Amino acid sequence: TKSPVKVAITGAAGQICYSLLFRIASGELLGKDQPVALHLLEITPALKALEGVVMELDDCAFPLLDNIVTGDDPNKVFDGVNMALLVGAKPRGKGMERGDLLKDNGGIFAPQGKALNDHAADDIRVLVTGNPANTNALIAMHNAPDIPNERFNALTRLDHNRAISQLAAKLDVPVTDIKKMTIWGNHSATQYPDIFNCEVGGKNAAELVNDQAWLADTFIPTVAKRGAAIIEARGLSSAASAANATIDHMRDWALGTPDGDWVSMSVPSDGSYGVAEDIISSFPCTVSNGEYSIVQGLEINDFSRQKIDASVAELVEERDTVAELGLI
Ligand code: NAI
Repeated sequence: TKSPVKVAITGAAGQICYSLLFRIASGELLGKDQPVALHLLEITPALKALEGVVMELDDCAFPLLDNIVTGDDPNKVFDGVNMALLVGAKPRGKGMERGDLLKDNGGIFAPQGKALNDHAADDIRVLVTGNPANTNALIAMHNAPDIPNERFNALTRLDHNRAISQLAAKLDVPVTDIKKMTIWGNHSATQYPDIFNCEVGGKNAAELVNDQAWLADTFIPTVAKRGAAIIEARGLSSAASAANATIDHMRDWALGTPDGDWVSMSVPSDGSYGVAEDIISSFPCTVSNGEYSIVQGLEINDFSRQKIDASVAELVEERDTVAELGLI
């Protein structure tokens, strides 16, 4: 039998984790033959609630769940972990400036990056879901100098999945017909879902849609503002779909992407497609042998160029803010 993979998860008593933990423990992240250990981090006031979540995990008697570690000290909880899903973050309060949001989150992601640097296993991979995800991941990366930069990713897979679902509905095709969707840029309202390089049943998606007004005025804003629409409807932010996307991203990063397709991953920019370096931005990526590569050679038309540049400019601004704050 395989030895367990240790998966650290932060914000473990929160909404997203109430879906995420049970799916990971049931084998949906790493497969039905791979035991897992859950290393769950929370802040001190939430440890009681976390105890309840652990009781429920126990009550599922998951055959693959080897062990559960809980605590409020990342230096202990991250000990020896192979994967870290950083979900817990400081939400934006009413009237809060973006600078304050970045600063508060820096207070979380800088020490967590350092704790991963000092205590995680050598093969550690880190995925940041907690918002602002891309810049939180950048902060963690900068505070973990001994971990290769490419081990730090942020989540834009939910946006990717939302874009697939919207396009499938528009064209009245099954989601499985849609390949090569791309989200570029930031996980924010400036993100750019690109259908010019996307395929539907082997045909170019933009040509099939053939409706620039729908693309610009319906598709892009619907995908980019879906999070707000869910809060409006549910009174709470997306949680099960965010957990699902977190699993999709980490599973594909570990086990690989299918031939003839790619996924959207926010990864440290290497300058591909003219995207500024030293930001973590969303790109089309394939994965094999546990290593992702940014898909090269795609055509970027003028419309796409402008959208990508706008989202990248926002990430550069966030980076400059956290640099001024001394967080990176
Ligand atoms: P939630 O508020 O229900 O749970 C967050 C949990 O994190 C709380 O239990 C809190 O105690 C914990 N936490 C706060 N600081 C912590 C720290 N320093 N260490 C460990 N735990 C800490 O929030 P929810 O709904 O689970 O969302 C979590 C994050 O995910 C939010 O930032 C949200 O904006 C983000 N999100 C990201 C998405 C994406 O696509 N990238 C999609 C949906 C949500």
